[in-house]
Amino acid sequence: MMQPPPGPGGRPGRRGKIDKKDLEQLRESPVSLRRIGALFAPYRWKIALVVALIVASSVISLATPFLVRAVIDDAIPHQNVSLLLWAVGGMLAVTVAGSLLSVVQTWISTTVGQRVMHGLRTQVFSHLQRQSLSFFTRTRGGEIQSRLTNDIGGMQSVVTNTATSLAANITTVVGTAVAMAVLSWRLALLSLIVLPPAIWLTRRVAQMRRAVTARQQRRLADMQSQIDEGLSVSGILLVKTLGTGPVLSDKFARTSEDLADLEVHAQLSGRWRMATMNIVFSAIPAVLYLVAGLPATSGGMTIGTLVAFTGLQGALFRPLMSLLDVGVSVTSSLALFSRIFEYLDLPVDIGDPAEPARVDPENVAGRVRFEKVTFRYEGAHRNALDGIDLDVPAGAQIALVGETGSGKSTLGALVARLYDPTGGSVSIDGVDLRDMRLADVAALVGVVAQETYLLHATVRENLRYAKPDASDEEIEAAARAAHIHDLIVSLPEGYDTVVGARGHRFSGGEKQRMAIARTLLRDPRILVLDEATSALDNDTERAVQQALDAARTGRTTITIAHRLSTVRDADEIVVLDRGRIIERGRHDELVALGGRYAALATRAERHGAGPLGQDEVSSPASQREPAAVRSG
Ligand SMILES: Nc1ncnc2c1ncn2[C@@H]1O[C@H](COP(=O)(O)OP(=O)(O)OP(=O)(O)O)[C@@H](O)[C@H]1O
Ligand SMILES: [Mg+2]
Repeated sequence: MMQPPPGPGGRPGRRGKIDKKDLEQLRESPVSLRRIGALFAPYRWKIALVVALIVASSVISLATPFLVRAVIDDAIPHQNVSLLLWAVGGMLAVTVAGSLLSVVQTWISTTVGQRVMHGLRTQVFSHLQRQSLSFFTRTRGGEIQSRLTNDIGGMQSVVTNTATSLAANITTVVGTAVAMAVLSWRLALLSLIVLPPAIWLTRRVAQMRRAVTARQQRRLADMQSQIDEGLSVSGILLVKTLGTGPVLSDKFARTSEDLADLEVHAQLSGRWRMATMNIVFSAIPAVLYLVAGLPATSGGMTIGTLVAFTGLQGALFRPLMSLLDVGVSVTSSLALFSRIFEYLDLPVDIGDPAEPARVDPENVAGRVRFEKVTFRYEGAHRNALDGIDLDVPAGAQIALVGETGSGKSTLGALVARLYDPTGGSVSIDGVDLRDMRLADVAALVGVVAQETYLLHATVRENLRYAKPDASDEEIEAAARAAHIHDLIVSLPEGYDTVVGARGHRFSGGEKQRMAIARTLLRDPRILVLDEATSALDNDTERAVQQALDAARTGRTTITIAHRLSTVRDADEIVVLDRGRIIERGRHDELVALGGRYAALATRAERHGAGPLGQDEVSSPASQREPAAVRSG
């Protein structure tokens, strides 16, 4: 029985059918070969060397069958020792040379592939970082990850292997075919008849196996997401609170059973595949022996020729199979490039201006001005902000109130230039934000968002993220001012305690105080505070309130207020409704006006100092203290 030699062309590519998604991708955004060529251009000499090495090792390996023939037909029958030594030495030399060449070839081609991949990966990463927030809200979370890790990572295996195995397979197939014809044209003709059905059969069996494997992978993915849904912190919270445990267990059991069945199928079809290959690889030489042995068809062929021919035949099989799948590998490689280029070609909609205004963050007073600002989210049917005119003097304290969805967070996002207004302008000290460098805007405007993002790192690292060169003393001072220091030192390892996944170990109020500490470290002139909407208990609320007061002092502050206590002392209260300003003034003025704010304030008073402009359903009044106690 004969196994095909792994040879230079023996590397299995991505066999099977062309992926429909790949075709669609290429139809939507075709790739130019010139652009791909440009990526590899700096390495053209190395690539030429790789091709030369591949051709050389294929050609060298063709010598073996001729050496075999010499040994069997001449050296052994005639007891020609010197020829025998030469031939055997030659065989050894061919294998050693071939192996060495393939090591060098792999080294060079992998290096080139990895260099190109590294370049693309870092380019995509920094390009995506420059995308505006709207890109991330419209892109599914996993997709970006998948492009950066799978698509670019896949380049090495798909692109480099496709290119090298293409070169190797073509040279092997052509070389072998020529050698076969030279050795015996009769047997070469016979191969033309025997090989096609053998290849067809092998491919069929392989396809069946692939189908099972694909189903297995889908089921495995199901199982993984079920484990994630059932056994992660957020997942288990949902399971326990919704009481979905038994349902989830049933689902898991079904998936697990399916997987068990599929594994049996997979094992069996794997066996079938091996069995077919074995039969094919034994049957082909057997047929050759038959034809060469029968007097009618032998044509006076020598034994050496027959053995040498059989060897060549075996070497032809795999490269031929791979070449049949070249369409698939090339398509999936092109689709990879297409996806990567698509990301690289995304325009940066919010970027640095060509001629940035000179801004010295140290000397900015901090006057924020909205002029006729209109804003509509991509794909939305109505404006989130509509004709906003707002002038916040330097150092003033403004409170934004309004029903949920009225546009408060959107207004805050425009101050930090997370979005550009659809109409009108937002300026700081008279300079349009679009004329400032993004780094200056970031230095000027601090944001404490409704939700705080904590990194999976120590508390200290989480705080230092806001100011990488902050000393430990600065960090501690900021934490004290944000009323979070005492809590941090009470943790098992103090400032070196690792924040759990997404900060689950911290309450909403604690996370927000961490965010405030970060802002204090950055010390921005202008502060946008989006108060947490969740109900806080009294002690926490007081601590958060004090932290917020610390954050506000000495800066222009726009507070998106959900609590009456925050609003009372504001220099101006702005009431938003469906993206428009409907009332503005100080607390007493607005209460006297008897409009929307007055209604909100009365409702809040009744339920205990808040919540302002929120449904009673979302913040149950029962969790709050009576107004009399709060306002003390
Ligand atoms: N990324 C987005 N894409 C499309 N529409 C959005 C997006 N973000 C917000 N909106 C819509 O814009 C409007 C204003 O939203 P915004 O978040 O500013 O409200 P809000 O006043 O902060 O509400 P809340 O008090 O609940 O925080 C809402 O109708 C909302 O559905
Ligand atoms: Mg909001």
